[in-house]
Amino acid sequence: MGLNISVPKETAESERRVAASPETVKKLVAMGCTVTIETGAGDAASIPDSAFKDEGAKIAKTAEDTYKNADIILKVQRPSAKKMDYIKSKALLIGLLNPHGDSDTIAAYAKANINAFSMELVPRITRAQSMDVLSSQSNLAGYKAVLDAAEEFTRAFPMMMTAAGTIPPAKVFIMGAGVAGLQAIATAKRLGAVVSATDVRPAAKEQVESLGASFVAVEDEEFKEAETSGGYAKEMSKAYQKKQAALVEEHIAKQDIVITTALIPGRDAPKLITEAMVKSMKPGSVIVDLAVESGGNCASSKAGKVVELGDTKIIGHKNVPSRLATDASKLYAKNVLNLLTLIIDQESGKLNIDWDDDIIKGIALTKDGKIIHPNFKEAKKVPPKKPADKPAPAPKKTAEKKGS
Ligand code: NAI
Repeated sequence: MGLNISVPKETAESERRVAASPETVKKLVAMGCTVTIETGAGDAASIPDSAFKDEGAKIAKTAEDTYKNADIILKVQRPSAKKMDYIKSKALLIGLLNPHGDSDTIAAYAKANINAFSMELVPRITRAQSMDVLSSQSNLAGYKAVLDAAEEFTRAFPMMMTAAGTIPPAKVFIMGAGVAGLQAIATAKRLGAVVSATDVRPAAKEQVESLGASFVAVEDEEFKEAETSGGYAKEMSKAYQKKQAALVEEHIAKQDIVITTALIPGRDAPKLITEAMVKSMKPGSVIVDLAVESGGNCASSKAGKVVELGDTKIIGHKNVPSRLATDASKLYAKNVLNLLTLIIDQESGKLNIDWDDDIIKGIALTKDGKIIHPNFKEAKKVPPKKPADKPAPAPKKTAEKKGS
């Protein structure tokens, strides 16, 4: 008998993704697994039940039917407390479990004897690149941020020379040139904007320039040391932040669109745009704060809202990858499939987890009723039950990860 793999419908607010795609269902069925999809699980991502059924999935009518016999449960966001009751003991739960933002729930997984794997914690080592959900989702978020800005912007992006006159190109400034920022640069360039970008990591300079954008940064001694061995940014000193703010202040006043993506593992997002800077922008300017769920890069942004300050709009959409639910689901599902391929024995079709594998050590929160992840061993308190289907807080990137 093969493994029972179940894919429930996501119930958190503004979550439109699903943790499987027809392509991954086909592969799992070929591996001898029985795949059960909750009816409607793919609807918000434009994947109808029939598309899953055509690849050999069973469709379950209720959440309880989906969860109850599962050996492995594939989720995007963590299940609500009510759904946790449906999960059988010793089952494996895989999802964006938000271990830093929601550490109490880790103790609940241990208590229910659920082995929980958190996809945000996949280490950034070459072997795990195909499972790197932060990259697959941030890349889409960077692209969508530019389109979200374009929608609110009342001018065109490209330069247009017409008989009725010339339209100048939009000036777009990207703050934070990681995965999301680089995709935002590429997207804004494709739309014809004049693009500049900043980052505190020296490695970002070449990447920004290779995409045809100009690099704007305080390149002092501290800047040269600002990258961790894992390729992430360090929190900068107060003195650096002051110099950076002065530079940004001057640059921002000349921009039409600013897209912020700056994050520091383990900390709140750095505040890069003050209210005064927003007010210095030209009428009709647009800011998109992709870091809004980690505290925000812009002092005036609000999660889930489009705020107007003076004549500038500040977009703070939550869960931006979910706004491209079809592609985000497809890539997320593939990331998860690649993990499953590592832990399911191809010959026997049974689970064969190497708990000493660096990838597993990185993502495994609980095993056999115990919290095993070194970063979360303190999370022992079992929380009171939360109301059914309470939206899970957005995943917050806080883990220090390995070298790229
Ligand atoms: P992230 O999402 O943690 O941060 C986004 C960006 O914000 C980073 O580039 C960071 O340097 C920047 N930032 C932080 N503080 C800032 C400040 N005060 N001002 C301006 N910018 C600031 O980073 P992300 O996108 O997850 O990637 C970080 C690095 O990891 C990149 O170098 C990327 O190329 C690398 N990476 C490696 C992978 C691998 O498997 N080998 C996979 C994905 C990314």
